[in-house]
Amino acid sequence: MAYKKHYSVLNKEVVDILMEDSEQLQNIKFADMTFGAGGHTFALAESAKNVSVYSVDQDPDALKNGKENINELGLSERVFLHDMNFEQFPEFIRSSDSEMKFNGIVADLGVSSHHFDEGDRGFSFRFDAPLDMRMDVDNDELETAADIVNNYSKEDLEKIFFTYGEEKFTHRIVKSILEHRESAPIETTKQLEKIIIDCYPKKLQFGKINPATKCFQALRIKVNKELDVLENVIPGLLELLEINGRLAIITFHSLEDRIVKNLFKDAVQSDVPYELYNKKPILPSHGELEENPRSRSAKLRVITKINEKKSKNKYAQFSKIGENR
Ligand SMILES: C[S@@+](CC[C@H](N)C(=O)[O-])C[C@H]1O[C@@H](n2cnc3c(N)ncnc32)[C@H](O)[C@@H]1O
Repeated sequence: MAYKKHYSVLNKEVVDILMEDSEQLQNIKFADMTFGAGGHTFALAESAKNVSVYSVDQDPDALKNGKENINELGLSERVFLHDMNFEQFPEFIRSSDSEMKFNGIVADLGVSSHHFDEGDRGFSFRFDAPLDMRMDVDNDELETAADIVNNYSKEDLEKIFFTYGEEKFTHRIVKSILEHRESAPIETTKQLEKIIIDCYPKKLQFGKINPATKCFQALRIKVNKELDVLENVIPGLLELLEINGRLAIITFHSLEDRIVKNLFKDAVQSDVPYELYNKKPILPSHGELEENPRSRSAKLRVITKINEKKSKNKYAQFSKIGENR
């Protein structure tokens, strides 16, 4: 299936930050947890001849298209694309080469434009398609959006729409889903979209933002366990960093951003020395927002593995001298 174009969010910023301080290095090793259309991977690989990039994706379309592009660009000696959920990446590296560390790792979370524009995957209500929403569409162990909508309890559905979608008409929507599914399963994007729109007050039904947006986002997050895998992988990725290596994560909603912010904070407070590259998240420039309005909710947070922990206590050295007396 042809892979749709994807605008790589905060691409220049990611490359500049990960390449900073790399002039002295002979071989620069990066990892990209979310290859997608390869925008970040290729920009990193093309930034210098001594860069190699280990990339992963779990989407079969992204992998097929990616392998073709890597060959076409003549990068097969320096860009290595693997089929896996990024949650498995730290263990995959540890078991293939326990010494391997990275000078930079990037993750650009969520789905790509391809998913939204490729109607038959069920991510978008713009097309009528089976309610699927699995990025790893070949993984039969994953529940589809239809499985969730048709089998989950009232309480669980409310939790999903409310927590992952912050949908304020959750109660009405779930009540209506339960009524509809009693007569027949809800199987398609358009069926679900109509149920949701009908639960909205008339004056909000045809506004700028489709009322189904939040519930579709919530289902996608649940189907792909997006928050769980993010939370599970960050500690492992931090361990894979070289000294001065950076982990850069781009998030698209507050739930993801909170996880990254808190786990980075925990890392800074741990015994291993890390420091935040930026206290506040880096946002797309006005120029980028004009070119790609889908970047509007993107936030980039970066953490660096450092050599030695800086002491917050300016008298620490004196107390050490005191201890030696
Ligand atoms: C926003 S796109 C990345 C776009 C990419 N940075 C680019 O510039 O083209 C996210 C990609 O990551 C993949 N992805 C998301 N979560 C993943 C996970 N847990 N494991 C592996 N791949 C994942 C999706 O399949 C999608 O292709």
